[in-house]
Amino acid sequence: MYKINCLNPIAAVGLDLLTENYENAGSFREADALLVRSASMHELELPPSVLAIARAGAGVNNIPLEKCAESGVVVFNTPGANANAVKEIIIASLLLASRDIVAGINWVNSAKDDPDLAKLVEKTKAKFAGTEIKGKRLGVIGLGAVGVLVANAANRLGLEVYGYDPFISVRAAWNLSRHIKPIKSLDELYRTCDFITVHVPLADSTKGMLNEEAFALMQEGVKILNFSRDAIVNDDDMIAALRSGRVKRYVTDFPNPKIAGVKGVIAIPHLGASTAESEDNCAIMAVEQLMDYLENGNIKNS
Ligand code: MLT
Repeated sequence: MYKINCLNPIAAVGLDLLTENYENAGSFREADALLVRSASMHELELPPSVLAIARAGAGVNNIPLEKCAESGVVVFNTPGANANAVKEIIIASLLLASRDIVAGINWVNSAKDDPDLAKLVEKTKAKFAGTEIKGKRLGVIGLGAVGVLVANAANRLGLEVYGYDPFISVRAAWNLSRHIKPIKSLDELYRTCDFITVHVPLADSTKGMLNEEAFALMQEGVKILNFSRDAIVNDDDMIAALRSGRVKRYVTDFPNPKIAGVKGVIAIPHLGASTAESEDNCAIMAVEQLMDYLENGNIKNS
């Protein structure tokens, strides 16, 4: 019998898969395996009983990977399980960055009691005019599960898509998606694109990669989407780039007190993967991988 503890609630459809070989551990201190969503585990003292941790999600920066490796704890994630949800919010964000929908809605809410609202709308709407995404150039940094789905969907909407991934050759990128145009370097992507979306894990090499130096190479008025991790972007440099007009819009799934409310920022409360379907997919994949490891010793997505 294995004892499992959920550090965060995960979708019931995943927990329902646990067979009679499993029971709920009263606390993580008694557990053989842990299931986690987004709670940070960095401060937790893991008991020696823990054999594995499964994260229902893609990023693993909430898990102390080095400590786990040292003590032989296997860590799983669920890459791809939430990719469609993230792709869909990226497409919405391309439009949010191009059309002043959010400001327009806020304005209607503030003006809704005006008896002449219809006339006021006609007088005011010009200030919310936007631009179209068709024909614009989108740079996708990171061609994993999400990046490739985004590239294909954006191309269907009429964008020219450029992809860059340090671990994938131009040819391999083309095999992943015939819609991705080859680009030789990140600098070239920065210079070329009207929109840039990042899909890379947080690591020493990606921390703060969108910084003053990168912004200086970009087109005036570029629009940036960050559904990867907050620390991929250097906030001070982003604020300076927004103020100078180099960056026109920054859509981020990671609001923090520094960036939220800055002109040009559209901050979303980490909703990238928050759909019923994605929660179910991640929970199922996490539980299946955990059981396969505990019962058969198979290791996937570790
Ligand atoms: C992920 O790492 O899978 C995404 O950030 C979504 C999430 O965890 O909510």
